[in-house]
Amino acid sequence: MGKLDPATRPMATSQDDYLRFGLIGYGYWGPLLLRSLERIEHAEVSLVADLSSQRLAEAKRNHPRIEVTNRVEDVIEGQLDAVLIATPLSSHFALARSALLHKKHVFVEKPLTATSAEARELIEIAQIQQRTLMVGHTFEYSPEVVELRKMVSDGDLGRIFYVDSNRLNLGIFRKDADVLWDLAPHDLSIINFVLGMRPSAVSARGSAHLHDDILDVAYMDLVYSDGITAHVHVSWLNPNKDRRFTIVGDRRMVLYDDTAGNEKLKIYDRGVDRPTYATSYGEFQLSYRYGEIVIPYVQGAEPLAVECQHFADSIRQHSLPRSNGEVGRTIVRILEAAHESIIEGSKYIPLFWD
Ligand SMILES: NC(=O)c1ccc[n+]([C@@H]2O[C@H](COP(=O)([O-])OP(=O)(O)OC[C@H]3O[C@@H](n4cnc5c(N)ncnc54)[C@H](O)[C@@H]3O)[C@@H](O)[C@H]2O)c1
Repeated sequence: MGKLDPATRPMATSQDDYLRFGLIGYGYWGPLLLRSLERIEHAEVSLVADLSSQRLAEAKRNHPRIEVTNRVEDVIEGQLDAVLIATPLSSHFALARSALLHKKHVFVEKPLTATSAEARELIEIAQIQQRTLMVGHTFEYSPEVVELRKMVSDGDLGRIFYVDSNRLNLGIFRKDADVLWDLAPHDLSIINFVLGMRPSAVSARGSAHLHDDILDVAYMDLVYSDGITAHVHVSWLNPNKDRRFTIVGDRRMVLYDDTAGNEKLKIYDRGVDRPTYATSYGEFQLSYRYGEIVIPYVQGAEPLAVECQHFADSIRQHSLPRSNGEVGRTIVRILEAAHESIIEGSKYIPLFWD
């Protein structure tokens, strides 16, 4: 986050800061976005577009005062300030590009685009049009994830050894995105955000059990600087929902379990101290510390509501969103490299950031 260069910063369209939103895509996630947008003060959702007349009928039933349309152009070309896109991945680029070219501020659900070249193009158009481009990396707005980032940057965990992230459940199967593109954007955006870094290489493997060409289980190994590594496991084929995220440091270890109600974070005052001497056999004796487990109080907030409010604030304050286009492009680039790695027998693919 930070103030943008005045030459490239987005301009709010309404003089009085009142925001009119249009939403494209009212499937599973669109209604949740809409509910959060409706809580934003001095703003309204004016129009919802979807290709399905059934989904539009549902939108009208739930929100009788909002207009609905099956023509996306009505949203893209309409008298609106901002457009939110909650459609399948394959349509993100074309819709976002068109909306930016029509001078709309644009929020795109994760992952930003299907290729990093497309992501770069959207970033450039947003700069030229002086409009906000934001991607829906919802977990970057979760209070627990913000707390994890603070713990790491304050040095509470000591030197970070590794991060481990699981995102496993049964379904939902998608046709235009495999499990990597569907679930891993969450893990990758959390890891990058918490560490405040981008990886220098990725290796991946995966398998497709139910459809020949769509991965339903995948594993990723990422290399960061300072010797930090990260491991991500995503699956649509797990019997139960698993959202455990572990950071191991040399002073403390922390477990973030997103399914654990009010006790999502547990800080373990545990570790292994390296010895300064060797035994008579020349072996090093490690000393294990088993300290207390602390469950910190974290002020609750609904990540999606925080995220939508942040989109509105970024537009009004002409500031770069936390999950801006460049952050979205980073995730897309890692996913592309992970696929390259799978094709090349899990070879580590180096990542260069310009
Ligand atoms: N941030 C999160 O935690 C989160 C969670 C779930 C889904 N998502 C993202 O939200 C997006 C949508 O996912 P979903 O689960 O709601 O999918 P979905 O299939 O349930 O809904 C998509 C809707 O978009 C409509 N649609 C498809 N193509 C369209 C087009 N070209 N123009 C207008 N409408 C179109 C469909 O008719 C459908 O109603 C995806 O990018 C997904 O990754 C994000």
